[in-house]
Amino acid sequence: MSITSFSSFYYFHIIFGTKKIQMQKTINNKYILILIALAGLTTCKDRNNAQNNDSNSMNNTEKNILAKDVHSFAQPNDVRVKHMHLDLSVDFDKHILSGYVLLDIENLTGADKLYLDTRDLDISKVTLDDSPETTSYKQGEVVEHLGQSLEIQILPSTKHVKIEYSTRDSAAALQWLSPEQTHGKVYPFLFSQSQAILARTWIPCQDGPGVKFTYTATIRTEPHLLALMSAENGTEKTSDGVYNFKMDQPISSYLMALTIGDLDFQSTGRNSGVYAEPGMLADCAWEFEDMQSMIDSAEELYGKYAWGRYDVVVLPPSFPFGGMENPRLTFATPTIIAGDRSLVSLVAHELAHSWSGNLVTNETWNDFWLNEGFTVYFESRIMEKIYGKAYADMLTKLGMGELTETIERLESEGKRDDTHLYLELENRDPDEGLTDVAYEKGRFLLKTIENTVGRENFDDFLKEYFTTNAFKPMNTERFIAYLRANLFAKGDSAALEDAIQLDKWIYGPGIPENVPVIHSDELVKVEKAAENFQNGTQKSSGLDTAGWTTHHWLYFLRRLNEETGKEKLIDLDNAFKLTNSGNSEILCDWFQLCIDNGYTTAYPAMESFLVRVGRRKFLTPLYKRLVKTEEGKEWALRVYAKARPGYHSVATNTIDAVLGWK
Ligand code: BES
Ligand code: ZN
Repeated sequence: MSITSFSSFYYFHIIFGTKKIQMQKTINNKYILILIALAGLTTCKDRNNAQNNDSNSMNNTEKNILAKDVHSFAQPNDVRVKHMHLDLSVDFDKHILSGYVLLDIENLTGADKLYLDTRDLDISKVTLDDSPETTSYKQGEVVEHLGQSLEIQILPSTKHVKIEYSTRDSAAALQWLSPEQTHGKVYPFLFSQSQAILARTWIPCQDGPGVKFTYTATIRTEPHLLALMSAENGTEKTSDGVYNFKMDQPISSYLMALTIGDLDFQSTGRNSGVYAEPGMLADCAWEFEDMQSMIDSAEELYGKYAWGRYDVVVLPPSFPFGGMENPRLTFATPTIIAGDRSLVSLVAHELAHSWSGNLVTNETWNDFWLNEGFTVYFESRIMEKIYGKAYADMLTKLGMGELTETIERLESEGKRDDTHLYLELENRDPDEGLTDVAYEKGRFLLKTIENTVGRENFDDFLKEYFTTNAFKPMNTERFIAYLRANLFAKGDSAALEDAIQLDKWIYGPGIPENVPVIHSDELVKVEKAAENFQNGTQKSSGLDTAGWTTHHWLYFLRRLNEETGKEKLIDLDNAFKLTNSGNSEILCDWFQLCIDNGYTTAYPAMESFLVRVGRRKFLTPLYKRLVKTEEGKEWALRVYAKARPGYHSVATNTIDAVLGWK
C-alpha cells in the first residue's frame, strides 16, 4: 500500500527571510497512530546525547578531534595517518598482493603506539623512519567483522612507518576473476571494494571514514593489463605492467580502490570518460553519453567539481554493487548498460558522491545517511536538470515505494531502530546499515526541508555546506547544529523546527507524517493499467505501453503480486518477452513475480541471470523469495552451488545467511 493513501492535506505558511513559503502538510492516518504511540517513546537519551554533543562537537571540529568509531581499532586522536605510499606486486596465480605501505604520521599526543586496522593480512616486517631494524609490533585478537588491530611501537618523533605485508586469497575486499568471468574471456581481472570496512583486508590502515589522507602508489602487474586506482590514472597499458598513481586530495580509506584487467579508455567529454573491456567499450561510451552534462549540471547546483577528472570503469558482472564512488574513478556494474540509457541515474548518484561523501564524509558508519541520503537527493536534482521534472518524479516515486517496503520489512523483522536515520551499529557489521532508510528516508528528509524553506534557500545552504565542510568528516549532531545555525536561523526558527521535525526524522522510526507527497502523472497512468490488468479487465494486448520507459515497467511490475496468477504472467510474457529482457532491473522485478506465481518457464533464464550477475541488490530478493517454499529452496541451493564461486564476498556473506549455507 502506498503511504500516500487516505491522506488529508493542510496548508500553512512560514516566513523565510523575506519570502513566504507555502507548505503542504500531509497527514497519514495510519502513521499518525504510530507516531502518537511513539512520541512518548522517542528516546530521551538520544535527545540528551544530541544536546550534550552539540556544543562539544563544535569544539571538537575546531580541535580536529574525531568521534569514537566503533568499527575501527585505530586511535586517530593520538596518531594520525596523513599520507600513504603503497607499493604492491600482483600475483594473479596465487591471488595475493604483496609489498609494503609507507605511512606518514602525525603524532598529536606524543603517543608511543600506532594502532591500525588489519584483517586477514600477513605482516612480515615493520620499520620506522630510516631505521632498517624492525620495530616491535603485535596483532590483536580477531574480532568478528573488525579483524585484528595492529599495534606498532613508535617514538613520539617517528614520522614514517613502513609495513611489509601480503594479502591472502581470502581478502574480503578483493575479487580475483578468472578469464571466463570477464567479457573477453582471455585475461584475468581484479577489483577491490573497500566500503565499508574492507580496506583493512588489503591495506593496513586507519580504516575509519573520519581519517583522511593523501596517497601515492606503485602497482606491479602483468603487461597487457591496465591497472587503475581512485587516483590520477593513465589511459594506456605500459609495456612492463608497472603503474604509478597519485591522489593529492585527502580521502578516507573506504575510498581506496584498485582494479586491473584488459581495459581500454574512451573519452566522453572535457573531463570525463569510460574504461571497459575492449568488447564492450563502445556500448558503455554510448550509454554514458550524458555523463559530461551530468558533471556540468552538478557543478551548477553545488559548486565546482573538486577532483579533476571524473571517469567510470565498467567492471565484470560479479561486481557486488551497482556503483561505488571511488574518487576520480567510479566503479560500476555492467548491468546498467541497458542499451537505452535508462539506468544512468546510477552515474548521477556516484558522481554526486564527489560532493556528498567524498568531500563531506560521514564520520562513522552510524552517520551513513549523511553520505547516501544527500547523494540520492543530489542525484535526483541532476536527473531533473537533465531529463526534466516528470522523469525525476518517476524515480522519486519509485524510491518512496522501495522505502515503504524496506520499512515494513525491517519492522516485521523486529529491527525498528534500523528505520532511524541515525544508526546504532556497535558490535554489528556496518553493512547492516546499508538499507533504503539511509538512502530514501535521507532523501525525503532533505526534500521536506527543501519544500519548507524553498528550493533557492536550500540550494544556497547546500552549496555552502559542501564548500565549508569540504575534505572534512561530518556527523549527525554536527549536521543538525550546522543546519540550525545556517538555515533555520535565517528564517523563523521556531516555525521551521515545528514544520520539519528533525528529531522524528533522524532519531525516530518510520516515515514522519510531514513527508512530501510525490505525484507523477506518468505513473498514475501505469497505476491504472496495473489495476486493470491485475483485476482482469485488461489483457496484455490491451495495455497501452507505448512510450513506457524502464521506470514505467518497474512501477507496473511492482503493483502486481502473488495474486496476479500464472495465467496473467504467461499472457504478459508472450506479449512483452519479459523473461528475455535485456534490462537487469526489469528482469529482477519480473523474476520475483515469476517465483511468487510459480511461473517456472522463466527459471532457466533466472538461473543464468543468477549465475552471471553478482550484484547483491538483485540476488537478495530473488533468493529470499525462493527459500519460501521447499522446491524453491532446493532449486536455489542447486543454482547457488554453481553461482557462488563467481560471487564477491559481499554477496556471499548476505546470501549464505539467506540460504543457511555453511
Ligand atoms: N557507496 C555506495 C555503495 C556502498 C555503500 C558500498 C555502503 C558498500 C557499503 C554507492 O554509492 C551506492 O549507493 N550504490 C548503489 C547505487 C545507487 C544508485 C543507489 C548500489 O550499488 O546499488
Ligand atoms: Zn551511494
